[in-house]
Amino acid sequence: MATSAQKCVEETGDACPLSHVAIIMDGNGRWATRHGKARSAGHRKGADAVREAIEGAVDCGINYLTLYAFSSENWNRPADEVSDLMALLKLYLQREIKSLHKQGIRLRVIGRRDRLSADIVSMIDKAEQKTAGNSRMTLVIALSYGSRDELVTAVQSIAEAVASGKMRPEDICEADISQALWTADIPDPDLIIRTSGEQRLSNFLLWQAAYTEFSFPDLLWPDFTKADFRAAVDDFLGRHRRFGARP
Ligand code: IPE
Ligand code: IPE
Ligand code: MG
Repeated sequence: MATSAQKCVEETGDACPLSHVAIIMDGNGRWATRHGKARSAGHRKGADAVREAIEGAVDCGINYLTLYAFSSENWNRPADEVSDLMALLKLYLQREIKSLHKQGIRLRVIGRRDRLSADIVSMIDKAEQKTAGNSRMTLVIALSYGSRDELVTAVQSIAEAVASGKMRPEDICEADISQALWTADIPDPDLIIRTSGEQRLSNFLLWQAAYTEFSFPDLLWPDFTKADFRAAVDDFLGRHRRFGARP
């Protein structure tokens, strides 16, 4: 059966109100504690939920799915947890790129790459190149990502353009800022889902989320399924977004 999002895509084409869903995948550690396991087991189970989210997004006909996998601040976690997460990421990239490519999914990674190991950066580069021509859905992974870091980088590039005379300060507009962010050419998220019960952005897409809707399903990330994705989408489609312009 077609989901409401698919119906919406069929009926309105590009005018579909739900093009981009972003997810703050939170609660792996609490899941592990609840099951009497090490945090690393929660992260491993969380990787299975990533597969569920991607399937859910593809089934719903979403154009962009962004997954917050590792924040700038997550580098401050204990070294063994950071290395577990990096090892898991490597494993994920090794195992899943072929399947993402087969499904027609384009991969894009946003975030600061200079703190990642050279082998991970090379895997990401190769995966992005391999999948660049795919058009079914774009999967954006936010890795070593922090929105304030992204904004600082954008301000630096705009300041350089001004200093070199390529741009006048009075000409800087919102689109210039959007284009200077790592998310350039990606539409703003329509919906951000955060699991685990926390209701905060944790330095995720601060500029891009100006008019984003939010969904806080009451579950921990490793328990997330494609049915939960569909439920969040269906709830979103029943909402009325006003963007400040309509009463
Ligand atoms: C999300 O789960 C994974 C990352 C942030 C990398 P957490 O590890 O934050 O799990 P909780 O919030 O401690 O339960
Ligand atoms: C946000 O979760 C980052 C990711 C899910 C990758 P955190 O667990 O790091 O956020 P806080 O510390 O609860 O705000
Ligand atoms: Mg957390």
